[in-house]
Amino acid sequence: MVLKLDIDFFINWFGLTILKYPILLYLPFLNSEHFQLPLQVYYDLILYSALLRAFLLLNSWFKCTYSTSEWSPLSEIDDLNVLVTGGSNGLGKALIETILTELGEKKKVNIINIDISNYSGNDERVHTYLCDLTIPSMLNKIIDTIYENVLIGGTKQFHLIINNAGMRSKFKKFEAFTEKEIRDLMQINSITPVTIIQRLSPLRNCKQIDSKHKQCYIVNIASSLGILAASKVSIYAASKAALISFHNSLKFEILADPTNKRNIKTLLVIAGQLNTEMFSGFTPPRQFFAPIVDVKDLSRKIINKCNIGEFCQLNEPFYANFAYLLMSLPLVIQWIARKLSGMDNCLPDE
Ligand SMILES: NC(=O)c1ccc[n+]([C@@H]2O[C@H](COP(=O)([O-])OP(=O)(O)OC[C@H]3O[C@@H](n4cnc5c(N)ncnc54)[C@H](OP(=O)(O)O)[C@@H]3O)[C@@H](O)[C@H]2O)c1
Repeated sequence: MVLKLDIDFFINWFGLTILKYPILLYLPFLNSEHFQLPLQVYYDLILYSALLRAFLLLNSWFKCTYSTSEWSPLSEIDDLNVLVTGGSNGLGKALIETILTELGEKKKVNIINIDISNYSGNDERVHTYLCDLTIPSMLNKIIDTIYENVLIGGTKQFHLIINNAGMRSKFKKFEAFTEKEIRDLMQINSITPVTIIQRLSPLRNCKQIDSKHKQCYIVNIASSLGILAASKVSIYAASKAALISFHNSLKFEILADPTNKRNIKTLLVIAGQLNTEMFSGFTPPRQFFAPIVDVKDLSRKIINKCNIGEFCQLNEPFYANFAYLLMSLPLVIQWIARKLSGMDNCLPDE
């Protein structure tokens, strides 16, 4: 494993630890004659850490247990049914491989992959349905087939649905986009996940399915560009923004419904640049502050959350946590920050 000394490394190993336990900064000076803090400061720091820890535990409890105490870890479900879109390459393929190794080793796993190309791995637990997800009629036909053959007319259920398939447009100014390019991008990035959740999740038929099949974890893979939009990717950014808003509304709808909140949990992934084909072909600027995310690491984090059933959002890398904050700064500060980051000038013209 290569050690990457970027800002995420320092934040994860030092920044967050100091934020949680600031008293650690003062421990080296405990016996110093020249630098002494009043005893009260030590007590206050201990109290701060205890309150923060209590809050984090409460938050974890809320995310994992508040809505349902009956949730089974995916690794304990026999006959685990999983649906992944775009699982033949990139992040989707890494997700399938992680599911097979971490959830499927001892249990029976059935992974349905909807993709435009075949899955290159050789595993009989993965079944690929070829489909161009920019064509709604093709998607609907594939959904009909999966509903009849895999879900046996709705008597079975997917335990995990991962809306991962996505496409980017060529890097170009908004006025150069054709209507077809806009429709295709919105179709695959925003509408396909909505259609899949509407037709293949237990949201519509939760009450008719027998209890051991009700549980379903839904993942939507969005992008930091859906919040922190750069120039020359306007339609891609719009399509991911639509997915983020849809996800957020659905999440609170589920939490407000007594039946659905027991059976369905969601995860929104806000990802920065990944080490896949999609955004390759240019050198990303300021990689110390905006490191490229390794899909194997990201897929392990995603599958861990799916397994324990955490109702949450995963932002990677660390700067993605501040995307909304950056977009709400006064324009002149945003302009300076964007100039310094190089985000609007780094993409080539295609
Ligand atoms: N790459 C990034 O930097 C980045 C950053 C943030 C978010 N994301 C999001 O993360 C997700 C995965 O991205 P990735 O980087 O893994 O992309 P990727 O390497 O291009 O993989 C996407 C997968 O979707 C398939 N696909 C593409 N067009 C399709 C279509 N019309 N119909 C059906 N399947 C299609 C691809 O098949 P082919 O390989 O045969 O084309 C591929 O298997 C996407 O939703 C993307 O928007 C990516």
